[in-house]
Amino acid sequence: MQELEQILNQAEQQFAAVEQAAELEQIKARYLGKEGSLTALLKGLGKLSAEERPAAGARINEVKQKIEAALNARREALQQKALQSKLAAEALDVTLPGRGLNVGGLHPVTRTLERIESLFHSIGYAVAEGPEIESDFYNFTALNIPEDHPARAMHDTFYIDEKHVLRTHTSPIQIRYMQAHLDKYKHLDTMPDIRIIAPGRVYRVDSDATHSPMFHQVEGLWIGERVSFADLKGVIADFLQCYFESDELKVRFRPSFFPFTEPSAEMDMSWGDRWLEIGGCGMVHPNVLKHVGIDSEKYIGFAFGVGVERLAMLRYGVNDLRLFFESDMQFLKQFS
Ligand code: FA5
Ligand code: MG
Repeated sequence: MQELEQILNQAEQQFAAVEQAAELEQIKARYLGKEGSLTALLKGLGKLSAEERPAAGARINEVKQKIEAALNARREALQQKALQSKLAAEALDVTLPGRGLNVGGLHPVTRTLERIESLFHSIGYAVAEGPEIESDFYNFTALNIPEDHPARAMHDTFYIDEKHVLRTHTSPIQIRYMQAHLDKYKHLDTMPDIRIIAPGRVYRVDSDATHSPMFHQVEGLWIGERVSFADLKGVIADFLQCYFESDELKVRFRPSFFPFTEPSAEMDMSWGDRWLEIGGCGMVHPNVLKHVGIDSEKYIGFAFGVGVERLAMLRYGVNDLRLFFESDMQFLKQFS
């Protein structure tokens, strides 16, 4: 039966040439399927004589087994090959050097805040906080800011609703702290001194090289029985000297106006050939003390509010304040 030899050879060749498992199954059908050539031969056995039939049947079955064996071998080989290439593709070279971890750093504004806090902490100031969404009462009214003051206008202040704003300064923390302090010591004849700083985020409708819609202030407040304007100047001057580590700083106090202080001043520092305003200050207005129930005949004190980004600009030599909020890694990396 030469035909059988041919079928076997052909099958073996075709199996060997196949690269895809699915293709292999299609080729299998050509030989062993219902319409397959070997199947046809088996069906043809019926036409043979009784003497020829057993030998011919045995021969066909032998070839059938060989084809099946070749098929299984090829199937196995293809599976192995697929596995190998999958392993190769997913291989990890454990001898490669590691990619390394990025080390984070503190934002320059955070560094500045920490520095301010630690300097004031060293002269006995506590740190107070307050909410960023503030009532009209704490942000304006309690601070003696009249109804028609321009700071209350929509084009300067972000309103949440008619009675609430994003605080425009840290000064409302003065009010909250004085109320709580008074309540805490109401059983005493004499109220202990209030000596705090109050750092935090504040918001204004503002944007240019020295103004950002969100920025940070640090409020300072010292209330006692004998606090003077000289104390205010001394504390501020000492603080700036320590903060900038320099005795040759040019700081100036410029007469100014705030509804919640009297007298009031702006503090400026030299910045190139100009002055940069770093904050406002003054002696707390008696109306503010009265508002919270502190006896303004007995107690007196000062308050100040400085712009934290302004101090960071001066310390690090940054000429545009908005750079602090752009999250540009190249810029920020210089500070860590
Ligand atoms: C105030 O906000 C007063 N509450 C300060 C104060 C406190 C006075 C206590 C008296 C007693 P002023 O609006 O000037 O004042 O702001 C204070 C400082 O915040 C400015 O000097 C400036 O350094 C900074 N500042 C103001 N607006 C911006 C802004 N848009 N972006 C960045 N910094 C700003
Ligand atoms: Mg000002």
